[in-house]
Amino acid sequence: MKLWGGRFEKKTDGLVDDFHSSITFDQRLYHQDIAGSIAHATMLGEQGIIPAADARAIVEGLRGIEADIAAGKVHFELDAEDIHMNVEKLLIERIGDAGKRLHTGRSRNDQVALDCRMYVKDAAKEAAGLMRELCETLLCIASKHTATIMPGYTHLQRAQPISLGHHMMAYFQMFSRDMQRMKEVYAHADVMPLGSGALAGTTYPLNRERVAELLGFSAITLNSLDGVADRDFVCDYLYAASVCMMHLSRFCEELILWNSHEFRFVEMDDAYATGSSIMPQKKNPDVAELIRGKTGRVYGDLTGLLTTLKGLPLAYNKDMQEDKEALFDARDTLVKSLVVFNAMLAACTFNTENMARGAAGGFTNATDAADYLVKKGMPFRDAHAVIGHLVLHCVKENKAILDLPLEELKTFSELFEADIYEACSMHACLTLRDVPGGPAPGRVQESIEAGQAFLNGFSIG
Ligand code: ARG
Repeated sequence: MKLWGGRFEKKTDGLVDDFHSSITFDQRLYHQDIAGSIAHATMLGEQGIIPAADARAIVEGLRGIEADIAAGKVHFELDAEDIHMNVEKLLIERIGDAGKRLHTGRSRNDQVALDCRMYVKDAAKEAAGLMRELCETLLCIASKHTATIMPGYTHLQRAQPISLGHHMMAYFQMFSRDMQRMKEVYAHADVMPLGSGALAGTTYPLNRERVAELLGFSAITLNSLDGVADRDFVCDYLYAASVCMMHLSRFCEELILWNSHEFRFVEMDDAYATGSSIMPQKKNPDVAELIRGKTGRVYGDLTGLLTTLKGLPLAYNKDMQEDKEALFDARDTLVKSLVVFNAMLAACTFNTENMARGAAGGFTNATDAADYLVKKGMPFRDAHAVIGHLVLHCVKENKAILDLPLEELKTFSELFEADIYEACSMHACLTLRDVPGGPAPGRVQESIEAGQAFLNGFSIG
């Protein structure tokens, strides 16, 4: 018989058991569920709501169940619906009447909210840890390449010279913000909902703060309806995961481009590429493509849950059971993507010669040539026009600006002098961009040091 079967005269249709049961996926919450029950039972015993001996028996019984689940010895039952009732049923089978007292002053509605909050806390911590590892890899690559010149792009057209180190540190900034987002996710989830009951609290003298303390929560929820009805903290995780996947996906897209024969800025390690079943020459960046592709499913998890929640009246509705597969899928996808991406990036070989050639060949010093004329007294808008004509001429001649001899440069402006060749060299273009946050090697070095300090000071939970 079902734990809630008292009011029913008929058995649940097998189709319904199959349709509404969540045990196939929420068994993943067994650790959180049992930890929550142990804290609840301990508090019930301490408050004298159930006999102290029963509380002890419950705690011991639950520990045994947890060990057996971890050892793969427990067979979950579909008609026990979910992890909460599977565990409770097992407990009653094992310890008898004492087990029937566990659910005093509690509902599955506050129980599942608790489990999900504990899961999200762990998942946020785990994600931040993996992001930190990626940030370490980025610092390591960046510190080797503060003076490695490459073209920076806008509209995927070569724009101005930057360094590989500067490019890597751009991603460092993004992933360090992702870490901070996960820290906020953790803080939002770190509020203990037990005591909300089904929706309207409970008549028992629960000590909610004690349960929060036993489970390592910083606070308790302050409204019983809200405590069981919202899953915004799950959305927070899904959003933070989506943003991180978006960052990974852009990075993957760049690696795919850089790995192409057209760019040849990077050589992906054989261990992270795959071949073609028909074209013998192929070495495809499948891992990067798949991370880019999987970004869509994490966005789907977020959009799906937001859509599930948008029309729900307070408080609990069964629709909310849909939160878990989205959460688990996003967590699995994010974790796998971060792990494999970090390994793949660490194994990349950068072709610094091609990067330098790319920077030198694409008029990336045109802005600097205009700035040169400005420093000699010409208004910027005029200088822009002069260099525009000069570039057009060079395009027609298939030359770079500095390929032209001084006499020819002077036909575009009398202000050109012999120092133009040094002033617009790739090296000067990089080192003169010496503003805070800019690509000058010293500035990138500063950002690497600030980044290391951020990582050293970062903590979550
Ligand atoms: N399996 C359910 C869920 O995930 C647990 C809560 C069920 N509560 C209820 N009143 N049916 O949401």
